[in-house]
Amino acid sequence: MTSTPASLADLYIPEGVGRTALFIAWQRHAESIRPDALFRDPLADWVTGTLAEHPVMAHCTQMVREVLGEKPRYPDYFTVRTRFFDDRIMAALHDGVHQIVTLAGGLDGRPFRLACPPDARWFEIDLPDMCRFKQSITHLAGLRAACRWQPVAADLTGDWPATLAAAGFDPALPTVWLIEGLFMYLTDAQGDALLTTVRRAAAPGSLLLIEHLQASMLGEPGRWARERVESQGARWLSARDDLERWLAGHGWVAEVHAGDDPAIGLGRSVGPVPAAWLAAATPVRVDVSSGPAARSVR
Ligand SMILES: C[S@@+](CC[C@H](N)C(=O)[O-])C[C@H]1O[C@@H](n2cnc3c(N)ncnc32)[C@H](O)[C@@H]1O
Repeated sequence: MTSTPASLADLYIPEGVGRTALFIAWQRHAESIRPDALFRDPLADWVTGTLAEHPVMAHCTQMVREVLGEKPRYPDYFTVRTRFFDDRIMAALHDGVHQIVTLAGGLDGRPFRLACPPDARWFEIDLPDMCRFKQSITHLAGLRAACRWQPVAADLTGDWPATLAAAGFDPALPTVWLIEGLFMYLTDAQGDALLTTVRRAAAPGSLLLIEHLQASMLGEPGRWARERVESQGARWLSARDDLERWLAGHGWVAEVHAGDDPAIGLGRSVGPVPAAWLAAATPVRVDVSSGPAARSVR
């Protein structure tokens, strides 16, 4: 995929579900500028600072101001979620895992802000419009990834493993797989298919990091947030409360936390919406020495 330098006036800002990535970037910017920030995100700062007054951003801008207003609707959820994954990615890098694949990278600034080893490879899969947009804005913002960053344009409901392989993904290497802010935009069947494909592609020693919505978000408690998502042209299509069992059924042993679990909150408190799960999982392996039915954690 070639990089497409653009001037600000030429930027095509992705529509539909792509707009949800702008909203998340804005949430990360709000954290980034706090004196006690739990992370700083130059990409989110650039996106928000530069595009806030762009005409196509007007709706997002107004929505974020509402969400972050005097009585914030989502206190600290996106901060806690971001740090939950940051800390686990950094631990894996420290343990020698040097390949990361983000499924639906959106405007995630991690490859540009985390202290990755320069030889680590970071693949970010997203829809073609989003990949082009991110390449353009990182170019315009003058941001350089700390490691070898590779956007991969693919639809995650299609044959993305072939595109990832063509981009240089090494299936023999232990890999961090990050799926944040995506499952709710897939149907249950698409989510199942994605997990099956990831498990097949995950070498021993890999780590899976995922977020999913709690089932209540598809009912009345989630209505306000759902309406905001739909006003951006996107739609929540799934949510579930059986994450540990779901992941086990797909060959992963998971540590699962509710988004508002104080154990992962780093002193911040999370509001009731959006109610979500955060999970970190390692592959299950069949222990052949103990017979075909035995399973143990890799
Ligand atoms: C809420 S954003 C999350 C982005 C990023 N993971 C983060 O947390 O900042 C959702 C992202 O999912 C991407 N997406 C949605 N459906 C997709 C699909 N079928 N294939 C690839 N990307 C998809 C959108 O383009 C968007 O960038």
